[in-house]
Amino acid sequence: MLYSHSLCIATIVASLLPVARSGCTVSNIKCYVDDDQRVLAAKQAQDGAVTQEWCASYCHVNNYKVAGVEAGDQCFCADKLRDDARAASAGDCSETCSADPDEACGGQWRIGVFEVNCSGAPIPRPKSPPYLNNPCQNASSPQFSLPWCNSTLPIDDRVRDMVSRLTLAEKIDALDTTQKSLKSLGLNPYNWWSEGTHGISHVRNDETTPYETNTAFPITTAMSFNRSLWKATGSLIGREARAFMNAGNAWSTYWAPVINLAREPRWGRNIETPGEDPYLTGEYATAFVTGFETSEDDPKYIQARRV
Ligand SMILES: *[C@@H]1O[C@H](CO)[C@@H](O)[C@H](O)[C@H]1NC(C)=O
Ligand SMILES: *[C@@H]1O[C@H](CO)[C@@H](O)[C@H](O)[C@H]1NC(C)=O
Ligand SMILES: *[C@@H]1O[C@H](CO)[C@@H](O)[C@H](O)[C@H]1NC(C)=O
Ligand SMILES: *[C@@H]1O[C@H](CO)[C@@H](O)[C@H](O)[C@H]1NC(C)=O
Repeated sequence: MLYSHSLCIATIVASLLPVARSGCTVSNIKCYVDDDQRVLAAKQAQDGAVTQEWCASYCHVNNYKVAGVEAGDQCFCADKLRDDARAASAGDCSETCSADPDEACGGQWRIGVFEVNCSGAPIPRPKSPPYLNNPCQNASSPQFSLPWCNSTLPIDDRVRDMVSRLTLAEKIDALDTTQKSLKSLGLNPYNWWSEGTHGISHVRNDETTPYETNTAFPITTAMSFNRSLWKATGSLIGREARAFMNAGNAWSTYWAPVINLAREPRWGRNIETPGEDPYLTGEYATAFVTGFETSEDDPKYIQARRV
């Protein structure tokens, strides 16, 4: 009640003043190592669309003095940093914000911390752009009429045109697993790292795609010695990958299956393998990948592709 009351006043004031300042100013961002003992431990927003300004506003609304963003889509608040917080190098906090490719929102186990400096109305939660975009299918995009988008041209010509448009910095950046947006091509950031050994992971959950399915670990599924079950498992995972991608909440490349043999009992990832037998592992991989890639609706089409 109180909250909507103050929001209402802010709206009225904003409409009366010709230039109303509202929002949050983010400056002097410092990068810290963040681990299980959180650097900003008081409150965490639900993961999702994040900009630094929105996170500042979220912490402001919840009456905290310090805000921090991490891993592209996490927002934390507290009144002060943990006393023994360890500084990281600024470059460690350069992961793209989920809701704005031009802003950085911390990194993996790294949090970009700043003081909350807000006034006026709270900033509404931003919307995230889709993980994947295809400017070649968007008639109003500047890329649409470029040769690399023209599917009637030979593939070599298209690739040559595409590569020639990349800057050196973009080429170097594109060698990494997590790739920032390629502005020269109008492409959103891309993360090659999604996994699908026992259900998809590294995907976004929102109201369209709130949950993903988890299947049994490969070591268990493999023990059934049932090829059609292996194929059905791959098929379910690939189909869900495609559904999340169509909703804009997943990338299109998956690391699966693991076909390293389980040889060393102390290796923590044995559960991700089909076991220690080379023949069984080969058969498992064949069935799983066939199921993963083949569309149930029309076998002519690939529903998903492993890397
Ligand atoms: C807070 O933001 C204002 C601009 O809105 C800026 O002038 C001021 O320096 C900021 N204060 C701090 C402590 O960063
Ligand atoms: C299509 O391109 C225009 C111009 O770049 C852009 O504003 C718009 O958001 C794009 N539409 C989609 C669906 O990506
Ligand atoms: C694609 O290339 C063909 C052959 O050069 C050309 O005729 C056509 O106009 C191009 N399409 C677009 C959309 O630019
Ligand atoms: C093998 O798995 C399929 C599901 O894909 C199941 O219908 C079938 O009953 C299983 N076969 C045996 C012998 O359990």
